[in-house]
Amino acid sequence: MAPTSKHVDFFRRKNKLLGGGGTKAIEKQTAMGKLTARDRITALLDAHSFHEYDLFVEHKCRDFDMESKSLPGDGVITGTGTIIDRPVCIYAQDFTVAGGSLGLMHARKITKIMDHAVKMGMPLIGINDSGGARIQEGVDSLAGYGEIFYRNTMASGIIPQLSVILGPCAGGAVYSPALTDFVFVVDKISKMFITGPEVIKTVLGEEVSMEDLGGARVQAEITGNAHFIASNELECFHQIKQLLSYIPWNNGRRPDRYPPTAPKPRFDIEKIIPPEPSKPYDIRDIIRAVSDNSDFFEVHKSWAPNVVVGFARLDGETVGVVGNQPLVLAGVLDVDSSDKAARFIRFCDAFNIPLVTLVDLPGYLPGIDQEHAGVIRHGAKILYAYSEATVPKITVILRKAYGGGYIAMCSRHLGADFVFAWPTAEIAVMGPEGAANIIFRNEIAAAADPAATRKQKVAEYGEKFANPYVAAASGHIDAVIGPSDTRKFLVHAIQVSTNKSESRPKKKHGIPPF
Ligand code: HXC
Repeated sequence: MAPTSKHVDFFRRKNKLLGGGGTKAIEKQTAMGKLTARDRITALLDAHSFHEYDLFVEHKCRDFDMESKSLPGDGVITGTGTIIDRPVCIYAQDFTVAGGSLGLMHARKITKIMDHAVKMGMPLIGINDSGGARIQEGVDSLAGYGEIFYRNTMASGIIPQLSVILGPCAGGAVYSPALTDFVFVVDKISKMFITGPEVIKTVLGEEVSMEDLGGARVQAEITGNAHFIASNELECFHQIKQLLSYIPWNNGRRPDRYPPTAPKPRFDIEKIIPPEPSKPYDIRDIIRAVSDNSDFFEVHKSWAPNVVVGFARLDGETVGVVGNQPLVLAGVLDVDSSDKAARFIRFCDAFNIPLVTLVDLPGYLPGIDQEHAGVIRHGAKILYAYSEATVPKITVILRKAYGGGYIAMCSRHLGADFVFAWPTAEIAVMGPEGAANIIFRNEIAAAADPAATRKQKVAEYGEKFANPYVAAASGHIDAVIGPSDTRKFLVHAIQVSTNKSESRPKKKHGIPPF
């Protein structure tokens, strides 16, 4: 068709809008070390797969001289595309247009693509780079946030929701990422906070930088708001692609199956655990010793590292792995690690991902700090999450499984489908030292040589309970297995659980200890 004046007009309008906030604003964005919203979409999605919607949407604000201002796309780009051939819905806030601030139409574009993602069963990716509620639009922008939060909540457990923080994400705006499944941040670029430095200075008289307040490291290491941290935007996009390869498009599907591959020989499971029971080792080496190609995609790597969570594949199938990390605090459960594990378990359960739990912990972390921080309430979350989960649940007890920690780490009693234990497993109410000191207190005190008697009683208790056979005799574990058989047992358990079907009593919803 020969171009008509209408075509020319269309290209002129379109090109103007594609230019976002203009050369100066784009230069400012680039000078901050940030890609533009459009370049981010291009870098993240498969080549030429992006289809944009609502490019011609315009803001409706008539106050504060806004009538005269054109805001291309109203500061947000929305559409669909593919990532490694998986369909996704995406929005990217454009900081070059009014600071990516969120007004009524900007919010409508986002809620429209969110609705589309739920209807079509596609993951939703939101790239946040915004000064928050558009101040000129007042309550309309607050309403917009509310509608986004409502949809984040409704979509939860139906489609995976990923938030990528590539600039400021300030004020109430942070609650959308907080309601989503995975948050990605980039060092020096991401800033998340409820109240900014200005407010803190006014109210509290304290000077604080945005970086110290809510920079990427703070969110990844201290608050746990971020699940993944990258050193630049391209690395962040690579992480997103990796994550999407492990998870399904929606809760009605299973993750894609990959060709099975053996673990790499350098991860020799027999050599990872030291013979001394109190010597630490890296639980991630055990995971790599059993997983396909020794791959392990760790989630929340920098936060609460005493528990390790992440995705791996067994015989080509995605599994969610939860393991105590003996390298950090002997792998105890505490407030943060309980939150971390519970959330991950619930994601896996919602999205048909079997759970593999690797147990080696002396229990919950003792101390007044933990008690006052609510270890009872937070610790309960992990019990709730495991009990509620109906995906296949496979547990391997490697070494210590003491007290509440034994129960919490997906014991048979919380509904594990398979429980295996290594010969080195110690399943008891507490460690032999503590137990002997309590139950043989009088005997030890009355002995001619209390130290020798204590040693003997510790050994006696250890012999009786610090092994897997008492639990095996009661059927609390299904098999005592040699470490080198672990992958074989795990793969078999996954294969025979393909058709697992378990239902729960009908109810509106449970009341987890949030
Ligand atoms: C309207 C905004 C804006 C906003 C930025 N801009 N934030 N316009 N509403 N919220 C505009 C600026 O006026 C400027 O326009 C352009 O975006 C770029 O902003 P700069 O300030 O020049 O950029 P920079 O120096 O990089 O600083 C970025 C910033 C700062 C730290 C985000 O702009 C800032 O502090 N903005 C306000 C943040 C804030 O308090 N937001 C409201 C939070 S409360 P020109 O035309 O000059 O280029 C909130 C409530 C939500 O969000 C509640 C939901 C429940």
